[in-house]
Amino acid sequence: MTFDRNLMLSDVRAGLAAHPRQLPSKYFYDERGSQLFDEITRLPEYYPTRVERALLQHRAPAIIAIAQPATLIELGAGSSDKTRLLLDEMLRSRRSGATYIPVDVSADFLTNSVAQLRTEYPALATHPVVADFLAHFALPEHPSPALHAFLGSTIGNFTPEPATELVSSVRERMTIGDFFLLGVDLRKDPLLIERAYNDSRGVTAEFNRNILNVINNGLGSDFDTSMFDHNAVYNTDEHRIEMRLISRATQDVHIPDIGDITFVPGDAILTELSYKYDLDAATTLLTRSGLRLEEWFADDAGMFALALATR
Ligand code: AVJ
Repeated sequence: MTFDRNLMLSDVRAGLAAHPRQLPSKYFYDERGSQLFDEITRLPEYYPTRVERALLQHRAPAIIAIAQPATLIELGAGSSDKTRLLLDEMLRSRRSGATYIPVDVSADFLTNSVAQLRTEYPALATHPVVADFLAHFALPEHPSPALHAFLGSTIGNFTPEPATELVSSVRERMTIGDFFLLGVDLRKDPLLIERAYNDSRGVTAEFNRNILNVINNGLGSDFDTSMFDHNAVYNTDEHRIEMRLISRATQDVHIPDIGDITFVPGDAILTELSYKYDLDAATTLLTRSGLRLEEWFADDAGMFALALATR
């Protein structure tokens, strides 16, 4: 992933001038950051990916039976590995093949996973769309009905208003008979949540610090990653993980075209919010976005849920 320099410059300028200082979470995901996130999904402490995959494994037949999609549209398609569980079930239940539209900002990423899918699934028509799922993009013509999927608890990165805007924009692309499948991490014992973001091997810490490398590479700044501590705490009032980088010392960071920024010990940069949902919060999000909850699939331990909604 290469980031637009002008956009990064204005994002970083605004973020570091704000109180509290912050950086947009999208800058975690250069090649190294995407690798680190992949590693996170395999950590023993990081339950969301595993539980969501198990849920999809168990519930794909019910989801596909209800939605009966001819087309699967996936926002932020990632590696499409959990998606295969839905695709397998679609192809099993249909005699006439199926269509898959992965939507992702990273063209490289899409090209690779689409090539893979085309050899693996000859009966699947795959039409990748390079787009930022935050922008209002148009879908290519596709068979109806469609299942629009937004998995992985990515919605967790959005505060309530942007989350509602995002789901509303999905709704605008939905026609009668379409369904929306949303993956949400659930509210639970804060210790379990905090452990998922403070793994014993320090992978999440490295993932967090990597955002400074991404800014250094993009803007030519001189953040010293070893001078910032990883911090992730669960805010029980807001029901969200708050991830920060905390300055270990007094230090000046030079950012070309922005200037020098002084950090004193304990100064924080907010790098990520990860909201946790319950049935009520998910229903509110869907309702405010003009959708109606049809089914709620959660695992028995109440770790993660898939919400299935219609217009
Ligand atoms: C990719 C946004 C779902 O919030 O759990 C994992 C990112 N950050 N560990 C999450 C993340 C730290 C992840 N999402």
